Amino acid sequence: MISPAIERLLYLVAAVLFITGLKNLQSPATARRGNATSGIGMLLAIVVTLLELEILSPAVLIAGLLVGSAIGWWMARSIKMTSMPQMVALLNGFGGAASLLVGGAEFLKSELRGEAISVDTGITIQLTLLIGAVTLSGSLIAWAKLQEVMTGKPITFPAQKVFNALIFAAIVGLSAYQLYTPDSLLWPFYAVCGLSLLLGVLLTIPIGGADMPVVISLLNSYSGLAGSMTGFVIQNDVLIISGALVGSSGIILSQIMCKAMNRSLANVLFGSFGATVTATGKSAAGLTVKSISVEDAAIQLAYAQSVIVVPGYGMAVAQAQHTVRELAELIEKKGGTVKYAIHPVAGRMPGHMNVLLAEANIPYDKLFAMEDINSEFDNCDVAIVIGANDVVNPAARSDPASPIFGMPILDVDRGKSCIVLKRSMGAGFAGIENELFYAPKTSMLFGDAKASLGKLVSEIKQL
Ligand code: TAP
Repeated sequence: MISPAIERLLYLVAAVLFITGLKNLQSPATARRGNATSGIGMLLAIVVTLLELEILSPAVLIAGLLVGSAIGWWMARSIKMTSMPQMVALLNGFGGAASLLVGGAEFLKSELRGEAISVDTGITIQLTLLIGAVTLSGSLIAWAKLQEVMTGKPITFPAQKVFNALIFAAIVGLSAYQLYTPDSLLWPFYAVCGLSLLLGVLLTIPIGGADMPVVISLLNSYSGLAGSMTGFVIQNDVLIISGALVGSSGIILSQIMCKAMNRSLANVLFGSFGATVTATGKSAAGLTVKSISVEDAAIQLAYAQSVIVVPGYGMAVAQAQHTVRELAELIEKKGGTVKYAIHPVAGRMPGHMNVLLAEANIPYDKLFAMEDINSEFDNCDVAIVIGANDVVNPAARSDPASPIFGMPILDVDRGKSCIVLKRSMGAGFAGIENELFYAPKTSMLFGDAKASLGKLVSEIKQL
């Protein structure tokens, strides 16, 4: 339907749109545009592929586009922000499933027609099957853990790693047998698919639910690799390029998250973090906590010249972002300045805080990355910590025995005063005590973050 030259040109345009889209995703201000640009690139790639291969008539194509867009629009509108990681996990799983199906179909097509598969195509198909299946079953386990359909705790058993290594070796052995055996046997093909699905499950169950965002990002990278492999199998340039982009950006994101948690990727994947609830950290025995009333906290905030808001996972749980904005606007009306300090791994997914604050229409230019705002804590009048814990724990700087030692933190403890909003003295993700809550300059305002912020707002309005 279209000439090969036009097809190649349009694929190139699609690839450029993907890259421009990724570039725009670097900043919250351009992220929406980036998403739309990449989406248009993908639309173009799909349309060109379907037209070029004459798979669909234009009428069916338009109908498919409308139905697909409606489902995507409904999913994106109805999903809660806190359930976003689950949705991403499912979408990754679909990517893996697509690669598995395409790789499998290519293999079966050649086998059934009695066509010989060259060794290089055969290797690519086997890799597509392996990566696609691991991505599919691993993503489904990640979804189940995050959705709390199964336990979020690491599931471990003796000699787990040896067992996984044996399964991997069996997959490699069967793949090699399939490649080099002259008979067209189907059982090694089904065995590779089955064992790869099992491997995806076994690799994901020992990882704790809270580490799932890193796993999802890694699986995202795998789904890209699987897509890229599929591109080689079916000789589709744009699939090779887009798969490589997803593969590399997924691995870079996983690395960024691990670095910000001061953990290695190997520790996330094989460390079973969260298997034991009690972690080695300083005990708080003998230390006292100072709690503050809503009235006193309101006075401090209303008359502060500079306030830094430090959001964390608890703000997401409480869905307090809109009330945070209301409070900030009141402080600004009273003459104070309000800035937001964003830790790279605050919350439970990359960009979690940015997305929530953007949803509450908080201007991007008030959001500051950790390295840009840390020096400002010294001079700020009040730092208000909203449901954050690990990302402000000074033990990361001072206690070599702490599991988070070495993780860069927001220097809230260096400010003039600090108000912490949380429900109890409960630990955060790392399961450890936080000295900040016992520091003389810190006051605790106990309660659900949204409820406490609501009370602060009404109190300040009366001042
Ligand atoms: P956390 O250390 O997990 O602490 C969250 C705090 O929020 C808890 O101590 C909890 O205390 C409080 N909280 C929960 N519900 C609340 C509510 N309704 N109202 C008020 N407070 C509430 O959070 P963080 O400081 O954001 O740190 C994130 C952690 O997750 C880090 O350890 C990070 O390494 C890890 N992690 C992050 C990511 C990404 S990509 N962001 C990925 C994997 C792991 P109470 O129970 O006392 O209220």
